[in-house]
Amino acid sequence: MNENLHQLRCFGCGSRIPGAEARPDFRCANCGDLFEVEYPGWNQRGGNDRPNPGALKWLWRERRCSGEALDQSGVWRFRELLPIMESFGNAVSLREGNAPLYHLTRAAKALGIDQLYAKHQGVNPTGSFKDTGMTTALSVARERGFTWVACASTGNTSASMAAYAARAGMRSLVLIPEGKIAWGKLSQAMDYGAVTCQVKADFDGCLRLLTEIVRKAPIYLLNSVNPYRLEGQKTPAFEIAEAMDWNVPDHLIVPGGNLGNSSALGKGFREMRELGLTARLPKISVIQAAGANPLVKSLKLTHGAVLEPMEANTRATAIRIGNPASWRKSARVIQESGGWCLDVTEAEIAIAKAEIGAEGLGCEPASAVTLAGLKKLRAQGVIRSGETVVLVLTGHTLKDADYTIDFHRGTLLTDEEKLGSEAAIEALRRDAITVDATPAAVLAAIEGEAIGGQSG
Ligand SMILES: Cc1ncc(COP(=O)(O)O)c(C=O)c1O
Ligand SMILES: [Zn+2]
Repeated sequence: MNENLHQLRCFGCGSRIPGAEARPDFRCANCGDLFEVEYPGWNQRGGNDRPNPGALKWLWRERRCSGEALDQSGVWRFRELLPIMESFGNAVSLREGNAPLYHLTRAAKALGIDQLYAKHQGVNPTGSFKDTGMTTALSVARERGFTWVACASTGNTSASMAAYAARAGMRSLVLIPEGKIAWGKLSQAMDYGAVTCQVKADFDGCLRLLTEIVRKAPIYLLNSVNPYRLEGQKTPAFEIAEAMDWNVPDHLIVPGGNLGNSSALGKGFREMRELGLTARLPKISVIQAAGANPLVKSLKLTHGAVLEPMEANTRATAIRIGNPASWRKSARVIQESGGWCLDVTEAEIAIAKAEIGAEGLGCEPASAVTLAGLKKLRAQGVIRSGETVVLVLTGHTLKDADYTIDFHRGTLLTDEEKLGSEAAIEALRRDAITVDATPAAVLAAIEGEAIGGQSG
């Protein structure tokens, strides 16, 4: 099989270029918009390059028993739908993907939805969904001979990039907004050996700065403006469909920051339908934090025609982004699938995160917007009890332990933010209790729980 079948198509003006001719900032030379990877051979029905759905389903299932590193990757296992490289032998993999689809039993009961699942991307090698896209884009960088890679990041992209670069023997440069990312993520970038610059700017400022740098130096840009990131990030859609025996859920709910992930998952579901692997699309909804909701506003005020950048502010630092790069792609996914875009408050995020934690799963604050958004969609009556819903949990709970501890200590939210949610918050708080070193004191702590009280 020819392993490189792709070209790039501009999302704005439709012009097409070979992959190797993209500019360092991945912006179209004609109109400045972003590119999408496309595979022209897939459109020729009966052509040699058009994948055969039945054969692929069989092959991908067989690979689950394989000992080969690429087959064990939940991304490269689907490599027939990722023909972006000259040779798959150049792929850099940490056995990413294969994220479990958990039944959220308590939330399902509380919301009256039987089939409620969480696709937990936080179990990836560096603890977030970014690994699924980093393996593809960094592999392209290596194949094209780059020795340096770089990203601007709210934390998870830098952790992921630094790990994959280290595995490949490459160097990595990270630009992060000073003081505005979670420590767990910063520590990862350091541990994996990145050159980490804390910049006196927000995420959007960091990305602007990096765009200038890659135009001047031979450094490969690994933000999600890079269309090869989105190719890897589309593969959880394949995993979800495979887990559901090639049916798709009625609803997929995704957090929205720079809006690459919702764009990528939408592309994955679209391609599966076009190739005949599945029959339809799920309704894909994107949830933003109320303090970082430029797409919500764009869709409400202009039906997605214009996006007004804003100054973003939320404790869910991973989605603290006011000028999202992939907003046009994401708006298309929401509109073509019939999904919704809405925002949730800081208190709603904190409560949803604690509820996901109480299910024994846990996630980052940014991931919890999905459950908070689902509650709103359910209250609006647009998601019905018999429908199947998948929440995409994007990051691991240990990424931002400070947030979790502040919540349980009761110091996370202001009184104003808590207004009206005090009882729900108190019912979920589980602060540590200081006790004397005696059995009686410890047993007394359990006793308090048994009668339903909350000590400490
Ligand atoms: C944990 C987590 N969730 C959600 C997002 C948002 O994803 P996207 O920027 O692709 O919209 C990010 C992005 O950094 C993230 O790290
Ligand atoms: Zn263009």
